[in-house]
Amino acid sequence: MTELIPAPRKVAEGSGEVRLTARSRLYAAPGTERAGHWLTAVLRQSTGLPLREAREPAEARGDGIALLLDPALGPEEYRLTGGDDGVVIEGGDAAGVVHGAQTLRQLLGPDAHRRAPLDPARVWAVPQVTVEDAPRFRWRGLMLDVARHFMPKEGVLHYLDLMAAHKLNVLHFHLSDDQGWRVEIRKYPRLTEVGSWRPRTKFGHRASPLWEEKPHGGYYTQDDIREIVAYAAERHITVVPEIDVPGHSQAAIAAYPELGNTDVVDTASLGVWDDWGISANVLAPTDRTLRFYEGVFEELLELFPSEFVHVGGDECPKEQWRGSPAAQARIAELGLSGEDELQAWFIGHFDTWLSARGRRLIGWDEILEGGLAPGAAVSSWRGYGGGIAAARAGHDVVMCPEQHVYLDYRQAPEEGEPVPIAYVRTLEDVYRFEPVPAELTEAEARHVLGTQANVWTEVMEDQARVDYQVFPRLAAFAEVAWSDLPAPGERDFAGFERRMAVHYRRLDALGVAYRPPSGPLPWQRRPGVLGRPMEGTPPKR
Ligand code: ACM
Repeated sequence: MTELIPAPRKVAEGSGEVRLTARSRLYAAPGTERAGHWLTAVLRQSTGLPLREAREPAEARGDGIALLLDPALGPEEYRLTGGDDGVVIEGGDAAGVVHGAQTLRQLLGPDAHRRAPLDPARVWAVPQVTVEDAPRFRWRGLMLDVARHFMPKEGVLHYLDLMAAHKLNVLHFHLSDDQGWRVEIRKYPRLTEVGSWRPRTKFGHRASPLWEEKPHGGYYTQDDIREIVAYAAERHITVVPEIDVPGHSQAAIAAYPELGNTDVVDTASLGVWDDWGISANVLAPTDRTLRFYEGVFEELLELFPSEFVHVGGDECPKEQWRGSPAAQARIAELGLSGEDELQAWFIGHFDTWLSARGRRLIGWDEILEGGLAPGAAVSSWRGYGGGIAAARAGHDVVMCPEQHVYLDYRQAPEEGEPVPIAYVRTLEDVYRFEPVPAELTEAEARHVLGTQANVWTEVMEDQARVDYQVFPRLAAFAEVAWSDLPAPGERDFAGFERRMAVHYRRLDALGVAYRPPSGPLPWQRRPGVLGRPMEGTPPKR
C-alpha cells in the first residue's frame, strides 16, 4: 500500500485511514515552522485544501497534521504516525521533519506532487501507518554539471525539489569548466562577461565532426545563488560549490589570459572552449593565479555556507607545465620533484586557505597524489581506489565511482539511446551499487561520508535530456544512499521495480521527462553521432 521510495527502515500498516478535509489544520512545533510553511504550501497547491494553521497541537488532532521534534531521535531521523490522532510527524531535527513530510506526500498519492488540484472534490487520505526511518549516509548527493550546458535557475530549483522528494541532501554544483564559467564574481566581471559564453558547441561526442553554430551560455548572478542556496536550505539540502582548478579552467583563462601559461601559449587568443574532453590549457602556478582564485573563493564563501568547498583537481594535463620555464622555475624554487607535486602544492595552498577560514576542502581523487592536509576530503570517481586510499589515510570520502553512478552513461544497450556515451549502467546496476567497499575496516568505513551520483552534461543540452539521463536511476540511487539495503546481490530489485510502478506516477506529477521503462520514445532517439560507446565492459573497480 505504501510503496515508498526510498524505502524506509520500518513500516507498520493498519487498516483504516486518516482523511484530510477542509477542516484539517497543520500544527508546527517551535523549531519546525519552516518545515510547516513548506508542507502547507505544497499541500495547499496540490490538494486545494486550506490547511489552516493550528496554534495548539490539539487543534490538529484527529484530522490534521502535527509536526513535532523528538530529542530521542537522531539527526534526520523521523517517525510518522497516521492514526486516531491524525498525522503526526516527529523528527530528531527539522531535517527529519522535512523527510517525514516528503513521506507524507508519497502516502497521499502521486497527485500530491502536482502544483494544482485535478479535482477539488477529491478525498485525500493517509493510510493508518507508522513509519520509522533514518538515513544510512549523511552525504546523499547529486553533482550537476551546469558548466558544459547551463541549466537556468528555474531548472536548478526544480532539481532541488526533485532531490528533496528523494531525500537527497547535497547538491554538488559544478560551476566552472573549460566550456563555461557560471557564477558572478564581482571582483572579476570578465569571468561571466567573457567566460560564460562560447560561440558554438560540439554536437555529440568529442569525436563527432559536427558543431552547432550558435552561442551557448548563461550564469547565475550572486542573488540567483543566494536564492538557490536559501531554497535548498528550506529543503535541508546543502549546496557545495565547485570551482575546478588547476585544470578544466579554459573559460577562466579566456576571460583573464594572465591566468594561463603565457610563456608557452598565446593565451590572449584563447576563447571559451567549444570542444569536449580535457583542455591542455591549465592555470599557471603563479602567485598571481593564487591571489586571483583567493578572490574568487572569498566571494564564494560569502555565498555558500557549506562546510565543504570543492576545488576540482581532476584531469589536469601537465604538458604546459613541463614546457613552461616559469612553471619549472617554480618547481625548483619550491624544491618539488615535478609537475605532480606542483599540482599538490597548488591544491594544498587552497586546503590551508580554506581551513584558515573554517571550511574544508574537497576535491576529486587526483588530489590524493602528492599528499593532502588532514581535514581535506575526496570525491572518489575513478573507481573505489582513491576512496579506499583516502579513508585508510584518515580522510573523509564521498563515493561516486564512475563505473556505478555516472548518470551520463547510457542506461540500456539499445541503439537509439539519446545519450549513448560510455558503457551501459542500467537501473538495476545503480540499485546494486554499494558505496562502502568490503576491504575497509569498520573504523576506515566511518570515513565514508556517503555517496553521490554525478551528471556531466556534455551531450545534455536541455533539462529534458538531463531528466532522461537522471531518472529513473536517481530513484535507485536515492534508495542506495538513504535506505538500509542488504548486500548488492541480496537486494530485492523486483520489489523496487514494483514500487517504481507507483513512483513513475509521482515523477509524472512532478513533470520529470524520465526514461520510460520500455525505452526511448521515437522523439527521444538521436543519431549515432551523438555518442560513442566505450570499448569493452566496465572495469570491476
Ligand atoms: C571527473 O569525472 N573528471 C571527475
